[in-house]
Amino acid sequence: MMIIITDPKELQKMSMDLRRQGKTIALVPSMGYFHEGHLTLMEAAKKRADKVIVSLFVNPTQFGPGEDLDNYPQDLKRDADLAREKGVDILFTPQKSQMYYPDHSTWVEVPELSENLCAKSRPVHFRGVATVVTKLLMTALPDIAVFGEKDWQQLAIIKRMVRDLNIPVEIVGHPIVRNADGLALSSRNIYLTDDEKKLAPMLQKGLRTIKESVDKGENDAKVLIGKLTKFYNEMIPGSEIDYIQIVHPENISIIDKVNGPALCAVAVRLGKARLIDNLLIKM
Ligand code: PAJ
Repeated sequence: MMIIITDPKELQKMSMDLRRQGKTIALVPSMGYFHEGHLTLMEAAKKRADKVIVSLFVNPTQFGPGEDLDNYPQDLKRDADLAREKGVDILFTPQKSQMYYPDHSTWVEVPELSENLCAKSRPVHFRGVATVVTKLLMTALPDIAVFGEKDWQQLAIIKRMVRDLNIPVEIVGHPIVRNADGLALSSRNIYLTDDEKKLAPMLQKGLRTIKESVDKGENDAKVLIGKLTKFYNEMIPGSEIDYIQIVHPENISIIDKVNGPALCAVAVRLGKARLIDNLLIKM
């Protein structure tokens, strides 16, 4: 039996009761419109804890002006059915007014990791993410919380935040779930036309060619980024590159020479969608 809770205080009380009974809790934060990526995180959570809580909240504070907050895809009934099928115990679906007081004034920021990649074109995004995830952790009181590596920078920021603030939770990263053609699953893929859907898998193909170059000995980030820029311009006509960057996977600082751990992360606008993807090009 899955229960749906909208009141944060009620969820907090329920979690406290579960913890008193000695049950372990896993939280999967989400903005809903579930796809196989979300569902895989729920499965992973289920394996690691007695009770799984999934939060479904389209968090307004992580959307900038002109972003897709008002059009963000939503289908609560379908989401609830899918979560139930996955054996989720509690679906937490608060209203905006239940998550934020009108005079909300406390923010969590992780500036060092919020300079590159998505932070450049989405300046308030990670402050909103860090703040809402803190609130969700304080409300659901989980032992572990599961996040996807698709949003690598988000995961890195949350790990740092939990470490810095001594939040007693284990953050678990889960590999990117993809279509058979390689396209990373995303709720925003519904913005793609059929023709764009055929081009979008090139995002990952390009990343793989860059990793091959690294494996063969190329270590100059400028050269690698140049190659990938050319690849996308040729293979994804009509697309606009938001960024291609090579960064340290943990602190998200820019890397010039790929000699140690390195992540190549990209964001590309294709039609109405802004697609992101990433690949560890060196461990
Ligand atoms: P949302 O985009 O709904 O994603 C919820 C979780 O699913 C995130 O941890 C995300 O990384 C993961 N995810 C999405 N697509 C995935 C894929 N193809 N493979 C693996 N994991 C995937 O990310 C958010 O919501 C929000 O920013 C949130 C953390 C909930 C804060 O509001």
